[in-house]
Amino acid sequence: MVDWKNPPRLFIPGPVLVKDDVLQQLARPTLGHRGKEYAQIHGETVDMLKKLLFTEQNVFISTSSASGIWEAAIRNCVAPDETVLCTMCGAFSDKWSSVAKSCGREVEELKVEWGTATTPELIDEKLASGNYAAITLVYNETSTGLTNPVCDISKMMKEKYPDVLVFVDAVSAMIGLPMHFDELGWDVAFASVQKAFAIPPGLTVAAVSNRALEKAKTVPDRGYYFDFLAWAKSAEKNQTLVTPNIPHIMALNYQCHKLVKEGMENVWKRHKEMADFVRAWAKEKFDLFCEEKYASNTLTAVKNTKGINVAKTIKAVQEKHNTVFGNGYGKLKEQTFRIAHMGDINLDDLAELLAWIDEETG
Ligand SMILES: Cc1ncc(COP(=O)(O)O)c(C=O)c1O
Repeated sequence: MVDWKNPPRLFIPGPVLVKDDVLQQLARPTLGHRGKEYAQIHGETVDMLKKLLFTEQNVFISTSSASGIWEAAIRNCVAPDETVLCTMCGAFSDKWSSVAKSCGREVEELKVEWGTATTPELIDEKLASGNYAAITLVYNETSTGLTNPVCDISKMMKEKYPDVLVFVDAVSAMIGLPMHFDELGWDVAFASVQKAFAIPPGLTVAAVSNRALEKAKTVPDRGYYFDFLAWAKSAEKNQTLVTPNIPHIMALNYQCHKLVKEGMENVWKRHKEMADFVRAWAKEKFDLFCEEKYASNTLTAVKNTKGINVAKTIKAVQEKHNTVFGNGYGKLKEQTFRIAHMGDINLDDLAELLAWIDEETG
């Protein structure tokens, strides 16, 4: 039974710990989603998101989890007779490829070992060999704790493949890692709010380029719920196509105010400090799962070099301290464990957690 007065502290890589002041935003009285009060809050939130993502193009708020936008990017911006290149380096990037196939699109896969990065050279080689409408990239692979070199990839794409659309899953990256959407030349980038926005799950933020909307005009059968063109029409009125998750938008508005005030350079620096702290501990006590150069600033995947029983350790920390961290994902279970350091988690929280893991593992 959950003790609601003392709920577990979450250090899993999503949903992450949510502070009480943020939770309280979800309890505000509801508003009519076609009224001017809602439109004001929606418009203000989108304006702040544009600042946080460094874009003057479109930012949409979707009442769905992020997986919906995997599908939306494909269904809106890749025509049925076109091919998309899906880069794959872990569980989530792998999944995007299967989602693209399930949308009936031709998919070419570029796979690397889990824990290694997808490089501009690999993508260049693949794109040079075919005719692609778009590529999918995962900025931060949550299953392996790896950050792909998306800036270098984007630079290469702009220089050599300016007509290929770039779709980026930024689920565990957005807010925690730098993202200058317009400058990078991306077309779709998205994140659900249970990661570095530090809000309970229930909403996704998606930046969409003007050229992605132009492309969508040429793509038939885009469906209804995730139709970017219908979203853009509603956005003109500071509304959403369908009834949005209004309590979550209140919380998103609240978090955006804090982030704008803090300034993104400081937000990214804060995430890097937490990552440096956890990485130093991981290297001393265990090892990092991926090459340090690509290790993520929002979560660390620790290589279980001591052969500890990860599930047992997680259970012990939970029972003694009401705190949960993550086992390895999928095939990496027990070989790795994962610690989130994003959103409203701070260095003191992490110091406590690491000491408790030390107590269990010696
Ligand atoms: C990188 C990445 N992409 C996609 C997803 C799926 O997001 P959601 O559960 O919000 O649909 C996750 C979830 O953890 C993720 O980490």
